[in-house]
Amino acid sequence: MELLQRVIKEQGIVIDNEVLKVDGFLNHRIDPKLMYKIGEEFAQRFKGLNITKILTLESSGIAPAVFTGFTLGVPVVFAKKNISRNINSETYSSCVHSFTKNKKYIIRVSKEYIDKADNLLIIDDFLANGQAVKGMIELATMAGANVVGIGIVIEKGFQNGGTLLREMGIRVESLAIIEEMSKEKISFRKEEEKKR
Ligand code: G4P
Repeated sequence: MELLQRVIKEQGIVIDNEVLKVDGFLNHRIDPKLMYKIGEEFAQRFKGLNITKILTLESSGIAPAVFTGFTLGVPVVFAKKNISRNINSETYSSCVHSFTKNKKYIIRVSKEYIDKADNLLIIDDFLANGQAVKGMIELATMAGANVVGIGIVIEKGFQNGGTLLREMGIRVESLAIIEEMSKEKISFRKEEEKKR
């Protein structure tokens, strides 16, 4: 997605050649017009698949997921990372190991909100090692739901999450895949090379 790549180049800050800070439009301040276009792009790429719901993970997955759900006309369910009184005690849960943060956390979704009738599109903001998405796939599997695809806003192509998920046979659509990055330069994988 050209617009997204342009915004990443303009606003992204590379830290230690490994972490891309995009607080200006995705992780802290949100650009609603860009998010709307991201939602349209995901909806276009996954159209005709009879998607019944979007599944994402709090917090930064919610914005792109909501705009995608809005365009597709389906509800958005977000898995929670913290136990709260708002969540029904009947939940599916999965343990996620974050390599970036070097910690484990539990993600949960109420059994009320996904079930075996669902065709789910999983949306997330970043794909690094793929552990958060793997956790969401586990939640879907526990519910007996079908995962029709995965939509990622920014994939770090130099980490192994994309390969892991594509080797599971799941369709992954990333709107920007970063091939290499440094403080001086961010380069993206070209469209024709994206399926690898
Ligand atoms: P993985 O799911 O692909 O294995 O990623 P990992 O656990 O390593 O990443 C943990 C968190 O860090 C996730 O956010 C993920 O989106 C984010 N992340 C990973 N790499 C980058 C990066 O280069 N830049 C930015 N900005 N974020 C990155 P989270 O902890 O779930 O945070 P949030 O959704 O509450 O904002």
